[in-house]
Amino acid sequence: MSDSSLSRVLGSNLSRRSVLKRAAAVSAAAPMAGLLLQGGMRPVGAQEAIDSIDFEAIKLRTDLKGQKISVILGADGPAAPWEEKLVAKFAELTGIETKLVRGPESATERLAQYQQLLGAQATDVDAMMIDVIWPGILASHAIDLKGAMDQNGAYFERIVANNTVNGILVGIPWYTDAGLLYWRQDLVDKYKLSAPTTWAELEAAAKTIQEGERATNKDFQGFVWQGAAYEGLTCDALEWQVSNGGGTIVEPDGAVSINNPQAIAAFERAKGWIGSISPAGVTTYKEEDARGVWQAGNAAFMRNWPYAWALAQADDSVIKDKVGVGLLPKGDGENAQNAATLGGWQMMASKYSKSPDAAVEFCRFLTSVEVQKAHAIDWSRLPTIVELYDDAAVLEAQPFFGSLKDVFLGGAVARPSTVSADLYNDVSTAYFTAINEILTGQAPAADRVAALATELEGIMAEV
Ligand code: GLC
Repeated sequence: MSDSSLSRVLGSNLSRRSVLKRAAAVSAAAPMAGLLLQGGMRPVGAQEAIDSIDFEAIKLRTDLKGQKISVILGADGPAAPWEEKLVAKFAELTGIETKLVRGPESATERLAQYQQLLGAQATDVDAMMIDVIWPGILASHAIDLKGAMDQNGAYFERIVANNTVNGILVGIPWYTDAGLLYWRQDLVDKYKLSAPTTWAELEAAAKTIQEGERATNKDFQGFVWQGAAYEGLTCDALEWQVSNGGGTIVEPDGAVSINNPQAIAAFERAKGWIGSISPAGVTTYKEEDARGVWQAGNAAFMRNWPYAWALAQADDSVIKDKVGVGLLPKGDGENAQNAATLGGWQMMASKYSKSPDAAVEFCRFLTSVEVQKAHAIDWSRLPTIVELYDDAAVLEAQPFFGSLKDVFLGGAVARPSTVSADLYNDVSTAYFTAINEILTGQAPAADRVAALATELEGIMAEV
C-alpha cells in the first residue's frame, strides 16, 4: 500500500477539520455541547516530566540510522503535542526518520482502519497502538515482541498474558485504563451531599445539583458518560451490569450470560438517566464529548478514564482543584459491586514493515519505564509497570494512583475478548448496538437483551 493509500485510510484523522465537524455535529445533537471544542482542545498546563526523561537509560540503538518508519498513535486530541515531542526525540536519538500518524478517537473506527491496512499487508505502517481487546484479532499481523520488553521493570502479568496469543507477544503494554467516576467536589459540598457509592445515590445527587445549578446555568448536566454506538459504550454498559451483579456478557467459559434480570435492570436504569440527569445527546457521546461538557464546568458527574484527571487539573482548567475521582457506584442486590472496565493500549509492530528492527525499537522506547513514568506524571495515564505505582514522583503528581492501586493492578473487569478471540469485535458490536437501541428507546430492554443473547450465541458458536 502506498503512502497515498495510507492517508486515504487514515486521512480523515489527519486534520483538525474533522474535529471541528464532529464538534458541530455533536452540538447539533446536544446544544449544551457547544463548549466542547474549547474543552477538547484545551492544552495541559504542566507537561514537564517529558523534559526530564532519562533517555540515556533506555539505551536506544543508533545502528538503525536512516531507516524510515510510520507509527500510529493517539487521536488528534489534547495529548497530540506531547506525542509529537516524544516521537521527535526518538528520531533525534536514533536517527530513525519517524512519521507520526493519528488514528481516530473511536476504538471501533480505529480497528476497522487497522484491519484494512493490515489486511492489505500495507508496508507503510510499521508500528501502532492497539487496544487491550485486540490481540486475538490482530495476532496474525504482529511481530513477536517478547524480547523487546524493558528488562528494568516488571510488566503486569495479567496484561502480558492477555497480549500473548499462540505464544507470541502481540503488543507490549503501554498504558492501562480503568473506568472511573469523576465528581465536582465543590458542588457536592455546596449541596451538602457526599460522593455517591451506589447508582441510586448518584441519581439523587445528580438531580439535586442539576436542579440547583440550572438556576444560573441552563446548560448544566447531572451525569455525562459514553453512550454512542461504539466500543466505549461496551465499556460503560459492562460496568453497569457487573456493578449490578449481572455478569460479563459472555463468561470466561464461553457461556452467554447476558439475558439475566440484573443486567436488564441495569440497562433500564441507564435508560432512565437520559433526558433526566443526562442530556438526550449522550447517546452520541464518546470520551471527549463527555469530557468537553465536564471540562467546561457543565456537569456534576462524569464516567471517564484516568486521562481526564490531568486535564481537569491543568493550570487553565476552570475545574482545577474542584474535582474528586474514585470508584464507579455499586448497583443493587446481593451481587452488587464496584466495577471498572479494564482498558488500555499496547504497542504492536507490523509483520509487513520494511524496517522491522526500527519498528520494534520504537515499541520498546514508548513502553519503557522512563516513558511510562513521564506519561503517568504528565497525562495521568496508568503505567503497566508495577513499581511505578510506588514511585514518589508519580504518586505526588497523581495521588489517586495510590488509593485506587488495587483496581489498577488487577481489580478491573475484562471485556470478553479472550474467550471470543478473533470474533470479539462481533460480540462487542452486537452488544453496543443493542444497548444503544435500548438507550434511545428503539426497543424495550428485556426483548432486546433476549434477541442479543441469541445473536451472541450464534457468534460464540463460530469461535
Ligand atoms: C479507552 C480504553 C480502551 C477502550 C476505549 C473505548 O481508550 O483504553 O481499552 O476500548 O477507551 O472507547
